[in-house]
Amino acid sequence: MADNQNRDQWGSKIGLILAMAGNAVGLGNFWRFPYVAATNGGGAFMIPYFFALIVIGLPTMLVEWTIGRYGGAQGHGTVGPMVYIQAKKAISPKKAIILGSVCGAIGFGVTVLVNSYYTHIIGWSLGYAVYSLTGAYVNVDSGQFFTNYIVDPKNLIFWVIALAFLGWAVMKGVSAGIEAWAKVMMPTIYVFGIILAIRAVTLGAPVNPDWSSMKGLNYVWNPDLSQLTSASVVTAAGQIFFTLSLGMGIICNYASYLQPDEDIVTASVATVALNEFAEVILAGTSVIPISYAFLGPEGIKGSIGLAFMALPNVFTSMTGGRIFGAVWFFLLFFAGFTSAIAMYNYLVALLEEELGVERKKGAIVIFILYLIVGAPIAAEGIVTGEANLIYFTEVDNWIGNYLLIVLGLLEVITLAWLVRDEGLEEMNRGGLWHVPKWFYRLFHQFLTPISIIVFLGVFTRDYW
Ligand code: PFF
Repeated sequence: MADNQNRDQWGSKIGLILAMAGNAVGLGNFWRFPYVAATNGGGAFMIPYFFALIVIGLPTMLVEWTIGRYGGAQGHGTVGPMVYIQAKKAISPKKAIILGSVCGAIGFGVTVLVNSYYTHIIGWSLGYAVYSLTGAYVNVDSGQFFTNYIVDPKNLIFWVIALAFLGWAVMKGVSAGIEAWAKVMMPTIYVFGIILAIRAVTLGAPVNPDWSSMKGLNYVWNPDLSQLTSASVVTAAGQIFFTLSLGMGIICNYASYLQPDEDIVTASVATVALNEFAEVILAGTSVIPISYAFLGPEGIKGSIGLAFMALPNVFTSMTGGRIFGAVWFFLLFFAGFTSAIAMYNYLVALLEEELGVERKKGAIVIFILYLIVGAPIAAEGIVTGEANLIYFTEVDNWIGNYLLIVLGLLEVITLAWLVRDEGLEEMNRGGLWHVPKWFYRLFHQFLTPISIIVFLGVFTRDYW
């Protein structure tokens, strides 16, 4: 049904890289990373984190770009059909259809599930950015303010506005919508992140002489090995998938809009580098030290609410806090927006290419779908009158720790074991530099899938 002649394409190289960085750099970097790193031992968490980045993250990123560019050339931008096309070379079409369907179903299901809460956090960020400017949370206990925010149905307007913006951007298409937004928002995120990081390291110890922000920085970079547990190891692997947008097929989808000979090796490395700069350097140097300076070593071991419950405290008592508060929440909003656009586009592309639904109509269908799947979390706070979002936490846990990893594994096995050396040729085609054969054999065929299986085994150990 899809026709490659009519496929949209990225307008420029820089636009492509910014859009891909926008896809990866998201709430995972600024909202999720600080709380999972702080809760799982800080520096000790960073050891399995970097291991998973090199052994799983980078190789899987290369695979998603490769499958995506290949599928795009055949007119398909969603992971199921793309895996099917690749796998068909090596296994019977019937088996390839089954594999493609499984991958497609996981990609679709996970994307919808992620958005049942991800779009809410984008809405909260927008709401909090506005409330920072109006000074609404100044002199109010941040925990109480968060609860009031969650239980008040009026605040759902920010969620709906964010969804409408997303739908509008996706309707405009790849180069005129997604790329145009990424070109504005991505540089802004980096500038805002640098402002916050500078503020963090110059903060001193405003609350307790033992809690200087530099000590907070030390907490991330000085591993205390006694804190290394199996839970921190598996959380680190899950975080790598989440932050790099792997295991949903959304990197594949963006790669499907490439020119056939675009250099995907350099682009993959650039995406990983830009994402890690935002996560480890910017979020690691701003969110964790700022929280440490105000909350201390125990206080930062927060929950999903660290960004919303802890940081406003900080801005309330800081000179220029309203402005810094707005900078922080707009940063979160932009970061979430450029990632959510990628997930939204993935679902619209699926409707467009596989079911022939026109892009505009598709964007409206997905808008309604998001309202429906987001309803339980909207209702959870309003009905219970509490900000303790159990359903939310559970979904995030399942996504981060199990579901993304499964699709990642299927993608790597498809390329490295079914398509084999042709997969490497496809990866290297048009590249300025090449992935060596030994790397592909060692990582893609062995270390990456084996590590994913080991991580999955540890994740699921409570169930067997
Ligand atoms: N990589 C993005 C982030 O870090 O926020 C987007 C994303 C990908 C979110 C995968 C969630 C997810 F499961």
